[in-house]
Amino acid sequence: MEVITSLVPYQVGYFPCQRFDVVAIIDVLRATTTLLFAVKAEAKRIIPVATVDEAFEIKYELTSENVLLCGERGGEIVPGFDLGNSPLEYTPEKVKGKTLIYASTNGSVLMRRAESLSDKIFLVSLRNITAAADRIVSTAPKRMLIACAGKEGMSSLEDTYAAGFLIDKLRSMTDVELVEDGGNIAYTIFKYFGLDAMRVFESSVHGRYLRDELGLEKDLELAAEIDADNIVPMLVSGEVVG
Ligand code: MLT
Repeated sequence: MEVITSLVPYQVGYFPCQRFDVVAIIDVLRATTTLLFAVKAEAKRIIPVATVDEAFEIKYELTSENVLLCGERGGEIVPGFDLGNSPLEYTPEKVKGKTLIYASTNGSVLMRRAESLSDKIFLVSLRNITAAADRIVSTAPKRMLIACAGKEGMSSLEDTYAAGFLIDKLRSMTDVELVEDGGNIAYTIFKYFGLDAMRVFESSVHGRYLRDELGLEKDLELAAEIDADNIVPMLVSGEVVG
């Protein structure tokens, strides 16, 4: 399988529609981690959107549904929203049976950008990395994209690390050809940190921001729980499904 690894989100816009058999979207801190919790908590629908305005517009269209506006700007809940972006907020008590409209700074924007690239788009975090590799390999793809959300248009250490981790898992299951250097960079970073995800977060700009500026150490701990879950959310027709 040929693997292309996009370390910065704008690259994704350069690929033609349906270019890949599979796309893996990674935003470890915190979109793909948090949406895994939302799926586990049995949200009825999860609709990722690119902007806060779009979130409010869709809410006004969905008058017959029990809607929660979810997500963040600068890591903090958006004024007028119901939930922020901490996985801890996505409990069955709060989200079960509800329609979530989810706007995050990087992750949901990437989801919208990548949705035309493949029929099989998986949301990958460290919590489901082995399950995700299994699901990807089971579809026998010839060409896949690993797309990292990064931070505000730039790369991020934690997503690059997770991309390298995914490559390592895929390599243990099938033949992998890294056809450009994004994958080599990611794999090298993964080999450097090994399984110490907390050390990755402590070395990353966004990890330190969440911990030191927002006091969200617990979110980092949850995001660092490698293989804690077997669920691999997918993006299907613009919605996240379990
Ligand atoms: C994002 O999509 O930008 C993030 O998940 C940011 C965060 O809330 O940590």
